[in-house]
Amino acid sequence: MRYHSFCGVFVTMTTRVFSGFRPTGRQHIGNYFGTIRNCLQLQEEYDCFYCVVDLHALTTLDNTVTLQEDIHNMVLDWLAAGIDPNKCVVFVQSHVPEVTELHMLLSMVTPLSWLLRVPTFKEKVRMHPQNVNYGLVGYPVLMTSDIALYKGEVVPVGEDQLPHLELAREIVRRFNSIFGEVFPEPQAKLTEFPMIIGLDGTEKMSKSADNYIEIGAAPEDIRKKIGIAFTDPARKYRGDPGHPEICNVFTLHKMFTSGRILEIERECRNAGIGCTDCKKMLAESVIEYFGPFRERRLELESRPEYVDEVVRDGARRASRIARETLSEVKAAMNLLP
Ligand code: AMP
Ligand code: TRP
Repeated sequence: MRYHSFCGVFVTMTTRVFSGFRPTGRQHIGNYFGTIRNCLQLQEEYDCFYCVVDLHALTTLDNTVTLQEDIHNMVLDWLAAGIDPNKCVVFVQSHVPEVTELHMLLSMVTPLSWLLRVPTFKEKVRMHPQNVNYGLVGYPVLMTSDIALYKGEVVPVGEDQLPHLELAREIVRRFNSIFGEVFPEPQAKLTEFPMIIGLDGTEKMSKSADNYIEIGAAPEDIRKKIGIAFTDPARKYRGDPGHPEICNVFTLHKMFTSGRILEIERECRNAGIGCTDCKKMLAESVIEYFGPFRERRLELESRPEYVDEVVRDGARRASRIARETLSEVKAAMNLLP
């Protein structure tokens, strides 16, 4: 809560929080510890908007066959994780079309050179040179529009999103300097685990790298996946002392097994436990940690219409603010008669 002087009287203003997630379906541990945990905390105090950014997904999708199912599964995971539609606004980006108009307007103050130097854009061009579309170049402008449309000030994201956030700040700064102060400059909010490495021990945990564990995975899948996870690359034999500081399984333990972390570290270093034991312990900790989540998800699955109700109500609440901001933007740009 912040205090502002308004007509000489101090009034409370709630900070606006915005985050967007591409509709990747069921959420993984990277999404949960990298962002959702902050979203849960922030909804207790601030005015939060959590959005499924379906239009962003179109920049890289070959087809949209599973899009609605992915949106449904993602929102179900959020709700089961504790995102509460009575405390925040949960909605789908394309249900509030004002964002596309703001995208167009902000694109006019965004130099192309800023977009061409974005690391994720360069990487996508390298990986898929045959699929570099106009929408992909404008991805960060659409992301800025998401945040700016709701005058977002705090943006819970993982570390991979920092270059996008920096660009969003530059775009709104440029807009404000030309047309007057309309938008706040958004700040990224990271968790204590801003970049979770996947089970391959090298790349960021993601669906595309196929190195992830879904938070709602069945216990047997969790055991199977962790069973083949990469551990300490310097430890060859069971009797060799381990090096927790370079072992990704140990890093994952820090999220799930905090009470016993010193014991695991000691036992690994003196070869009291082997990597297989260590992974079995991790699997059981992950299963236990997400037990209540799996139960809540099952409950919600029996009410499939609930997700639709939540996002319909979310779009209604988001639209009100979107329309207000867009009118303000148009007035600032002298677009109104
Ligand atoms: P995505 O599924 O890539 O759209 O990501 C949704 C949110 O989760 C974004 O804020 C990402 O930064 C965050 N995120 C995704 N994967 C990870 C990861 N491996 N570590 C930390 N944060 C992540
Ligand atoms: N670029 C983000 C990702 O890939 C998704 C996103 C779109 C977003 N709009 C946003 C995140 C606004 C935060 C705020 O995960």
